Amino acid sequence: MRTWELSVPLDEASPTPLFVQIARALAEDIRRGRLKPGAPLPGSRALATTLHVHRNTVLAAYQELEAQGWISTAPARGTFVSTALPDVEPPARSEAPRARSLDSVGFPLDPPLESREPVDFPRGALVLTGGSPDVRLLPVEVLARAWRRAFKLGGQRLLDYAGPQGHPRLRAALAHMLASVRGLAATPDSLLVTRGSQGALYLAARALVRPGERIAVEALGYRPAWEAFRSVGAQLVPIPIDGEGIRVDRLETAARQGIRAVYLTPHHQYPTTVTLSPARRLTLLAWARAAGSALIEDDYDHEFHYDGRPVLPLASADRDNVVIYVGTLSKVLAPGLRVGFLFAPIPLIRCAASIRAVVDRQGDLVAEYALAELLEEGELQRHVRKMRGVYRSRRDALVEALRKELPDALEFSIPAGGMTLWARCAPGLDAAAWSERARDMGVWFSHGGQYTFDGQPFSALRLGFAGLKETELREAVRRMARARPRR
Ligand SMILES: Cc1ncc(COP(=O)(O)O)c(C=O)c1O
Repeated sequence: MRTWELSVPLDEASPTPLFVQIARALAEDIRRGRLKPGAPLPGSRALATTLHVHRNTVLAAYQELEAQGWISTAPARGTFVSTALPDVEPPARSEAPRARSLDSVGFPLDPPLESREPVDFPRGALVLTGGSPDVRLLPVEVLARAWRRAFKLGGQRLLDYAGPQGHPRLRAALAHMLASVRGLAATPDSLLVTRGSQGALYLAARALVRPGERIAVEALGYRPAWEAFRSVGAQLVPIPIDGEGIRVDRLETAARQGIRAVYLTPHHQYPTTVTLSPARRLTLLAWARAAGSALIEDDYDHEFHYDGRPVLPLASADRDNVVIYVGTLSKVLAPGLRVGFLFAPIPLIRCAASIRAVVDRQGDLVAEYALAELLEEGELQRHVRKMRGVYRSRRDALVEALRKELPDALEFSIPAGGMTLWARCAPGLDAAAWSERARDMGVWFSHGGQYTFDGQPFSALRLGFAGLKETELREAVRRMARARPRR
């Protein structure tokens, strides 16, 4: 032991306490073999003198090392390097962990699921992709007050473990809202609060589908739902759409080989925005009952309907308990809140809740409590009413700008609702090339190929108008006109 001395000087100015520095240095020397198992360590008094520290500092370091199993103390004999060393490596003496590449794995691993990464838009970009609400217009003070009250009134109970189904108060408020606005016979027991529609779609599919079973989807359609279904082993069957929504006749043909569920967006078909015709609704419900299939209805932007009243959901006409209804607060409030819900027959809800319990146990109860209050007090409804007017004006501004700047390039119907406009390109116009050229001018929008089932090009554009002011929309369209590829 006489030949051993601490290999790294102590740093009194470091925020790391001296006893930790000593313990780390000793452990590192043991690990590197400078101190062999069974070797005696200096007495605490001697080491304190060598290191110019208080003896208690050395004692604390020894205690730490003993607790970690690096050394052991034999009464009356002294302190020794342990003969049964722990197999964990101590942290290196420097504060930073040793650099190593984390670009590979030491075990078998499948590639990641296909998913849309959020795009880091350049500063000042005019973004018309997606149908996002304008979060700049959120009543943040009202929200902050509700969250503060949730912490105050909900107390510590909201920060504890809870059931997976969602706060009862939010489920009651949602049930009331769904009954009064959307004609749904919802009860708190038939609702499961989820992390957005995405969480609801995943849980519903996981509850319904065994690997290899088939889910029919609209094509063109919503890729994030497809990926959720694929992730639970579903085989997807694309069903074409037309000006009345999903082609129910084609569904009936495809269903001869069995269909476990149909996923659809009847209110505003994604991405074309058309509303499923009344005749097809009735046929679809009758078909589902006869086939014993579920209908997964994604009603993501119900409140935003501008011309006349919103069409009631399929679920409001469901007499046979075949519809699984998915809703979200992403559009009426903000996508970052990640609050959505499933409304379905209670056995399905129980099943989905049991899956949720093993995925992430429960939701954010503070948020759920605050949102319940916003619904009960009508704040959410007030915000929706205000935004409906704002979005209608923005839709009209976009329509006007497109007619002025691009009269011969696009063909579209004015969307009766939703937050996006779907436009077919004139023959010969390459939608994908257009969207790429527009990016160079700071304008981002989606093209039809992003919604096809097989990734083939589709000559159309999807323009989200809700997130931009009217002046911004006009500027975006002017730049779109400049970016338009010449044939
Ligand atoms: C078809 C469809 N469903 C659901 C959503 C909302 O998803 P989430 O509730 O997961 O934010 C969107 C949003 O873009 C959508 O387009």
